[in-house]
Amino acid sequence: MEKHHTPIATAAALLSDGEVIAIPTETVYGLAGNMYNENAVAKIYELKKRPKQNPLIVHVANIQAATPLIKDFPPKLLLLAEKLLPGPLTLLLNKSDLVPNSITAGSNRVAIRVPAHPLAVELLKMIDFPLVAPSANPYTRISPTKVKHVQAYFGSALKFILDGGDCTIGLESTIVGMEDNQPLIYRQGVISKQEIENIIGPVGNYNAISSTMPTPGLAPRHYAPQTETILTEREKIEAIFESGMAVLVFQEGISSIPIEAQYVLSENGSLAEAAKNLYRILHDLDHKRFKSILCEMLPDIGAGSAINDRLRRASYKN
Ligand code: TXA
Ligand code: MG
Repeated sequence: MEKHHTPIATAAALLSDGEVIAIPTETVYGLAGNMYNENAVAKIYELKKRPKQNPLIVHVANIQAATPLIKDFPPKLLLLAEKLLPGPLTLLLNKSDLVPNSITAGSNRVAIRVPAHPLAVELLKMIDFPLVAPSANPYTRISPTKVKHVQAYFGSALKFILDGGDCTIGLESTIVGMEDNQPLIYRQGVISKQEIENIIGPVGNYNAISSTMPTPGLAPRHYAPQTETILTEREKIEAIFESGMAVLVFQEGISSIPIEAQYVLSENGSLAEAAKNLYRILHDLDHKRFKSILCEMLPDIGAGSAINDRLRRASYKN
């Protein structure tokens, strides 16, 4: 009796009814629906204003639950799954006929993710269908790491948000797939290239231009604040800075710039903490209506590379 009133039971009931809700994961909040429900899938595209050619990522409770959804598990990707899942890693695998074409945009691959957030795991165990759950933001905007970010984006258009607190990782999952027997990183995340190479050996970087397999979600402009964003080396910030701009630095402020214009990602110099804080600070800065946001390039290692990647896309101009 009691159990039916828990938020997680409400979430499970709504999803089973074909509703779309927001769910927490350790990376960012997702807009979730039943993978097999055409209406739920359509609603997700509509809420996000996401182009139909951009496929949806699938969430399952564990690797075993992914087996019916895929044709084969390349040994290197299986090894990654065994070592790193549940966690912030998504694998691109050849899909079985069970996976509707409407969620893969016609591609023969499906993106599989096993989240580590305890509420997401509990929810996935409670329902008997996989969840499609792209990040809970309108197309090209910054992913949400807090319930209030999701509310600000969707308001009453969204029936329910399962509150899982602030996301502990704060950046979208690393995406890995294979092309011509070669493992490739399609999207960087806090699980770094180095960490992956330590497990399976050399890994390439997906190059959207040379590749035959499109990954439309990796558009150059993406993850972007409304405010103009500029990514540059720390040494150049002082010369570019003008009053009315905000400055986003990694660890330490720049002494010649007013302290109230500066925002620090991690006072301890922790890249993991910087990743966790990045979207929260960008959401806040966007509301403060600065003229522009000047961002310091981070050390190009581990989560630093992933942060630089997001800032590069945020600052991309056509
Ligand atoms: O951390 C995450 O991955 C979060 C949380 C909510 O799980 N989700 C997320 O979803 O970031 P989304 O849709 O915002 O980003 C997933 C990316 C998109 O760029 C999409 O194009 C790509 O994965 N993708 C999804 N399915 C794919 C497929 N079958 N083939 C190639 N790329 C795919
Ligand atoms: Mg997204």
